[in-house]
Amino acid sequence: MDGDSQRSRTAEGAAALRAAGARERDPALRNPDNLAEHLIGLRYRLGTRIPPMRAVLLWQIERRMPGLYSYVTARTKHLDELLLTETRSGAKQVVILGAGADSRAYRLSDALGDAQVFEVDHPATGAWKRERLRNLPDAHWDRVGFVAVDFGTGTLDDALADGGVDRAVPTVFLWEGVTPYLTSAEVDATLSAIARFATGSSVVFDYWYRDVFDRPCPYPEGEKFFRGLAARGEPARSGLDPATLADHLAERGLRLIDNAGPRELARHLPGARRPIMSFSAIAHARVP
Ligand SMILES: C[S@@+](CC[C@H](N)C(=O)[O-])C[C@H]1O[C@@H](n2cnc3c(N)ncnc32)[C@H](O)[C@@H]1O
Repeated sequence: MDGDSQRSRTAEGAAALRAAGARERDPALRNPDNLAEHLIGLRYRLGTRIPPMRAVLLWQIERRMPGLYSYVTARTKHLDELLLTETRSGAKQVVILGAGADSRAYRLSDALGDAQVFEVDHPATGAWKRERLRNLPDAHWDRVGFVAVDFGTGTLDDALADGGVDRAVPTVFLWEGVTPYLTSAEVDATLSAIARFATGSSVVFDYWYRDVFDRPCPYPEGEKFFRGLAARGEPARSGLDPATLADHLAERGLRLIDNAGPRELARHLPGARRPIMSFSAIAHARVP
């Protein structure tokens, strides 16, 4: 990917879902990302701000990717929670891999205390993000480090070091909504790079279940997701097996400490009537 035509469209789509979710009337179902609407383009902004347009947008998204809207809200809450737990427990660096329009560096700025934040992304998406950040005049984004990298090149170690990320410092990595777009080799190389960080460092990432790639697809909504992502030019490429995840991570130098599937994530959406997608989970693993 290079140039604006090559930036990630799914990054803006994910932020649009958070922006729409931030306007939920029920506070229990509301997405906490109140900055997302400033980071998306005009079409999405109108689509999330104007109630009838928002209803149409959500109907379209749910038709194409059933359960994604609820999943994204639960995921935002889950990652916020784990991020703050980790920084309160001593993580001094926050590295957001495939950051897209992630707003945590600005939205949670006070709660993150003196932790240094780095946003790591493909050069084209990173350039788009920095442009969008001009819409957050009060955000002290000059305290955020930006690192350009392509996970496909196998140079994550060097890119992080060149960007000022210190491997000796306890670090929390967030890797949200990215692994399905990468090959298994790219996912594994990134996990191994994380395992080379200081003891106690951790990573929170979500992944699709590997069997969603089986044909016929065992999940009723699975094939719709494949079609939806392929239409955006960002096809799904890989998944992981929750049954063997702990061993898989151990082989890459990480210890699985939590794995939250749809049932566990539902706790973030008490009383929700919309379904949550059935083949994605969020793992939390630590450098032992
Ligand atoms: C669906 S977006 C998720 C963005 C953000 N984490 C979120 O949840 O809103 C996927 C992100 O992965 C990044 N990405 C995908 N493939 C990549 C690659 N090979 N190298 C670097 N970044 C990549 C995209 O640039 C984009 O920011």
